Amino acid sequence: VIRPARLDDWPDVRALWSEIDDLHAVLAPDYFRAPIRHEEDWRRLLAIPAGAVFVAERARSERGAEVLGVLVLRLYDTPADPAMVPRRRAHVETLVVGRQHRRRGIGRDLMTEATGWARRHGAVELVLTVWDGNREAEAFYERLGYHPISRVLHAKI
Ligand SMILES: CC(C)(COP(=O)(O)OP(=O)(O)OC[C@H]1O[C@@H](n2cnc3c(N)ncnc32)[C@H](O)[C@@H]1OP(=O)(O)O)[C@@H](O)C(=O)NCCC(=O)NCCS
Repeated sequence: VIRPARLDDWPDVRALWSEIDDLHAVLAPDYFRAPIRHEEDWRRLLAIPAGAVFVAERARSERGAEVLGVLVLRLYDTPADPAMVPRRRAHVETLVVGRQHRRRGIGRDLMTEATGWARRHGAVELVLTVWDGNREAEAFYERLGYHPISRVLHAKI
């Protein structure tokens, strides 16, 4: 089941969030480090006005339901710049499926939900960033029909 996230998802979300934090810290250590996240961070995320957070949940026999994946989405409107085409876009800021639950269609289901939500809120496209070296995510998004629109270059100085 894909549904809007709740504050009481935090215990499962904490583990998922650290999977993506750890991955980013490995892929781009000059940009990311693995932090200790707190329930307050989750509360703040859920309170973002122009955005949505979805979780993928499955029934778990003894301890109730279990959250297997999370997606964080945020709306952005083009700034008032005459050189830019005014559009509303939805950015996928976080997407992670628990390591043991990948390749079962959960990521795809979360993206489908995000797409529907974004459309209903006036967005014309989804946009996201994949850090270089994240082959799993590259293969996933390519499969879903996403393609690059820019490249970010850097050089140490
Ligand atoms: C990227 C991620 C969210 C995909 O979630 P998932 O639930 O495993 O994806 P799905 O099962 O819905 O995959 C849909 C299709 O994408 C492709 N795909 C997904 N993972 C792939 C992989 N590792 N290698 C090749 N193709 C892959 C496949 O075509 C797959 O369909 P199939 O399994 O029927 O062949 C998951 O791998 C993940 O959480 N990775 C770590 C965090 C991350 O990188 N997030 C994205 C940051 S931008």
